[in-house]
Amino acid sequence: MEKTVPFETWKYEEQTKIKHLVFADYFDKWVKILGKDHPLNYFDCFGGKGAYEEGNEIYFGSPIIAAEIIQRNKINLKRDVCLVVIDKDKNNLENIKKILDYKKLDAKPIFVNRDFDLAVNKLLDENPNLAPTFFFVDPFGFKIKISTLKRMMKVAKSEVFLNFMYNGINRNLGIEQADEILIGLFGSSKWKELKDIENREKEKRIVELFRSQLKEFCKFVYPYRLCFPEMNRTYYYLFHLTNHYKGCEIMKGSFAKYNRGRVEYRGKTESQMTFFDYDNIKIDEIKKYLLSTYKGCNKSFIEIIEEQIDETPYLVKHIRQALKELEKDSKINIVRKIRTTKSGKIRTGIDNEDEMRF
Ligand SMILES: C[S@@+](CC[C@H](N)C(=O)[O-])C[C@H]1O[C@@H](n2cnc3c(N)ncnc32)[C@H](O)[C@@H]1O
Repeated sequence: MEKTVPFETWKYEEQTKIKHLVFADYFDKWVKILGKDHPLNYFDCFGGKGAYEEGNEIYFGSPIIAAEIIQRNKINLKRDVCLVVIDKDKNNLENIKKILDYKKLDAKPIFVNRDFDLAVNKLLDENPNLAPTFFFVDPFGFKIKISTLKRMMKVAKSEVFLNFMYNGINRNLGIEQADEILIGLFGSSKWKELKDIENREKEKRIVELFRSQLKEFCKFVYPYRLCFPEMNRTYYYLFHLTNHYKGCEIMKGSFAKYNRGRVEYRGKTESQMTFFDYDNIKIDEIKKYLLSTYKGCNKSFIEIIEEQIDETPYLVKHIRQALKELEKDSKINIVRKIRTTKSGKIRTGIDNEDEMRF
């Protein structure tokens, strides 16, 4: 591309575009929901260059996307969102400043030209009562300590969106020089037991292990798989950490929105199944799953959602639909806490407190 912009760009890749679309969709909702009642922070822990190019188009990176969303929502926010951008490379931070000027954004980020781990721990040391914070942790590699993620999740109402670079991790399992970094990442040496097993099983177990380590200190943890654009092979996972089921529900919705209803990006080669086919198959699968999981149990809808939201790939709207169909097929009974609508009609919807009798 001919240089027509006064800043540098990186080449844009398909999976990065998906990452940005999902992030933008979710972050906008997070800011709108939490920003009504709380001051907020956004930490871009690995800021990057701030801009990408594809063909003749320029696209923007996470710090710029966040700054635009914050600016758009300003009028409805309790207070301005504090934006912190960290990057070890000073040139990248300078580039981001140029982009903010070019786009005439009035964001005034705090730029931190330091290693992420040192920078975040220092900020957390100095600000023990941090406002709810969205931490975007998006490195090229996997040099992240789980102990730092744990500290981040201690900040009330905070969330972490983390790039778990599976491809790189897999290549380094068993390489001695990477041992210490991997122990820091997993917070244990258990991954060593998994390094020699068959590839697909290894991936599943590695992701499960990391997730279970995160679940020690975070209520809802969901890994979104992203493949290489040209092949059905995992590139990385985006892990979303939140302590509220709604966060998990909304993130799944954001992911599904850009991935044909799925909560993973399978690259350009995925089959052309339509939304409709996929939804139908999914509802049948969910019905079977719910019947076998909850056989003989009574559970409120919210209990089911809290138990299943980060354990299954299902969206809340699909779980609700499956339960309604099970009721229609007389496979379950639903006891509605409020029996009629405001206009006096018998309720057929499902609210959080309604009880499912399996
Ligand atoms: C994948 S890029 C970030 C992309 C960005 N999140 C986006 O969506 O546009 C990773 C960035 O991390 C920076 N980086 C690498 N190691 C770092 C470290 N230890 N601490 C802080 N930044 C680091 C690199 O300079 C690079 O700009």
